[in-house]
Amino acid sequence: MKETASSVDMDTIVSLSKRRGFIFQSSEIYGGAGGCWDYGPLGVELKRNVKEAWWKAMVQERDDVVGIDASILMHPQVWVASGHVQQFADPLVECKSCNSRFRADHIVVWEVYGVSPQKTEFLGLISELNPTRGVASMQTEAKESALLRKHGYSQYDSKQKALKDMPSLDDVPCPICDTKGSLTEPRMFNLMFKTFMGPVEDEATVVYLRPETAQGIFVNFQNVLGTSRRKLPFGIAQIGKSFRNEITTGNFIFRSREFEQMEMEYFVKPGTDEMWFKHWLDERFNWYVRLGIQKDHLRLRQHDKQELAHYAKDCYDVDYLFPMGWSELEGIANRGSYDLEQHAKHSGKDLSYFDEEAGERYIPYIIEPSAGVDRSVLAFLLDAYHEEVVEKEKRVVLRLHPALAPIKVAVLPLSRNEKLVPMAAEVHNQLRKSFMTQYDDSQSIGRRYRRQDEIGTPYCVTIDFQSLEDHQVTIRDRDSLKQIRVPAESIKTTLAAKLAGEPFDVLPPGGRQVTGGR
Ligand code: GAP
Repeated sequence: MKETASSVDMDTIVSLSKRRGFIFQSSEIYGGAGGCWDYGPLGVELKRNVKEAWWKAMVQERDDVVGIDASILMHPQVWVASGHVQQFADPLVECKSCNSRFRADHIVVWEVYGVSPQKTEFLGLISELNPTRGVASMQTEAKESALLRKHGYSQYDSKQKALKDMPSLDDVPCPICDTKGSLTEPRMFNLMFKTFMGPVEDEATVVYLRPETAQGIFVNFQNVLGTSRRKLPFGIAQIGKSFRNEITTGNFIFRSREFEQMEMEYFVKPGTDEMWFKHWLDERFNWYVRLGIQKDHLRLRQHDKQELAHYAKDCYDVDYLFPMGWSELEGIANRGSYDLEQHAKHSGKDLSYFDEEAGERYIPYIIEPSAGVDRSVLAFLLDAYHEEVVEKEKRVVLRLHPALAPIKVAVLPLSRNEKLVPMAAEVHNQLRKSFMTQYDDSQSIGRRYRRQDEIGTPYCVTIDFQSLEDHQVTIRDRDSLKQIRVPAESIKTTLAAKLAGEPFDVLPPGGRQVTGGR
């Protein structure tokens, strides 16, 4: 298989996102806040739909999973018990001469393995390292990933391998100012954001913005078990914001400092964990495929021993073939009994489970599918993007799954004619009660179709002069460009059926095919 994602590059998606109001740089008028992004009117709908689709598959359609919404600020001991205070860190190196900052593993990889990008390639990284200066450079990270891959390193193993082979940095020149011997020894830099709870700012009042939503689930295990009368195996799902003070952000919304996660912790009897692990690997891989991602743009990649997080017994990533190469969309880990044991030890509370059927008490094992909302949004956008030529003109179309499309139906009167507008407004008012809609009556109908194609609207409803006579409207399909004519009173049911997957050619009573299409 070719090692590139769909033909679209990241710049095209960034520019479409900005131009059409999907995603903006945070605090843009002040020059941007590094690694933070704002979702615009279409982006917020797409993101809500991704979360909705996840919740539907993980909670609504299952008997064995319930949801919670835990707070972002938690007791600081949670992060001691979880290992984050001690271990959630990246190695940071600073140049004493020019004060530039780098991840030590990046420098070591560049130096030790002969991966030496030109200085200009570092400039993006520098802006990423300075949180108040500008947007992350996607090109820099893409080039770095490409260089690492060329030298046989995946993004994942570079850190472990590099740190193991760590040479003295005495002879390594600063990649920016070239001064030798100016680099400090690497110091571990904890990725958790700190703040203070209450009015006094001292060590005793430090709290952290959660770097993952998972811990809010573990500490509520007994609460949920006791109140929802659950038996193992069962899961607790949560969607919410997480924060990581990443040293290097980049690749648009792929790695940011504030992001959302969709995590589910599935509690099982030890011994059945491998079977459930396999179950969740399949479920989660197929979720992306069902929502329209091409199967050959996805893979499951097992972590090797060195790469496994301190808590994991086994772990796979669902990788997507992003423009910068295969990268993680979601991690699925077999966490064993680590989490509940740690919290039992640090809190002094009994977090064991009494299995009535087996007549025994044990600490459940946990299988965790942990997905990124923002990374999923990015993958769905990249995979949906297509360019094609229609009537000798370029057509950009986002072939988003209807469940994900921000706008489901656009209502388009042929013109702003005073006779057409009342009927179009009536149709629009009827449809907006059931679907996210857009009403558009500016410019030619052809241009309006293209505008809707570019944001992924599955169906356009057109009201023309004939509609005033026969009380029928035209529905146009985004992907096939086919059109059907249906009675106005059946538009809502017809659209609902099409959005749920009914083939476009199936007609309601009184409907007919229309020849041509654009
Ligand atoms: N509870 C396990 C956990 O948090 P992780 O692999 O660190 O595991 C899970 O994170 C998912 O969260 C990743 O697969 C990714 O989709 C998303 N994620 C992690 N860090 C991120 C970041 N800095 N920016 C955007 N998404 C991130």
